[in-house]
Amino acid sequence: MKVKQQVRELFPTPLWVLDIPPSDAEPFNAKLREAIEKIVAPRPNVPSGSNWQTPHDLHTRPEFADFTQLIEISARSVAQFLQVDRYPMMITGCWANINPPSAYHPTHNHPNNYLSGVYYVSVPAAGPDLIFQDPRPVSIMPWTGKLTPHTANAAAEQAVPGRMVLFPSWLRHHVPSNEGTSERISISFNLMFRNFAETAASPRWKATAGEA
Ligand SMILES: [Fe+2]
Repeated sequence: MKVKQQVRELFPTPLWVLDIPPSDAEPFNAKLREAIEKIVAPRPNVPSGSNWQTPHDLHTRPEFADFTQLIEISARSVAQFLQVDRYPMMITGCWANINPPSAYHPTHNHPNNYLSGVYYVSVPAAGPDLIFQDPRPVSIMPWTGKLTPHTANAAAEQAVPGRMVLFPSWLRHHVPSNEGTSERISISFNLMFRNFAETAASPRWKATAGEA
């Protein structure tokens, strides 16, 4: 008997990866790095394994205006992809992370936001990358000898200077220990719908009786 098989790829978990050409990224990152250094100086002592983090208001500071614009342009294109661009979004937080050698960032997500992202200012040759975890609650995945989206329970996105990675805020992720000899500098940010309750939260279905 012949059987026709079809595969439905359900419930995708998208990432959006945007790269600035290296010739543009280099001067852009030098400026960002200088602005970040100014904010964190003088650097307080931090425990081994932890990092320095700026305040969460970088998107309101003039020296980050070009960067803020980059976030806004990128988020708009993601919103268009997801067909939610009719609902305006705003940046709710934006901060820089400086991970010295041996610093790491444990597993977390970004509650109370729709879209989150990270941009890489400086990354040691050895990484580390950004690791996303399988969001499905239970996984039974016998080893097939090959990692594919169907067999992996984590996925690494390479951290490259000039790269921005956007992802759904609920997606859990972590940054392994910096095994390089230089600092890993990134800028993280969150976005949420500006008027969520007023514009996007009413029921999706139509009433079947009574007046609207
Ligand atoms: Fe994060």
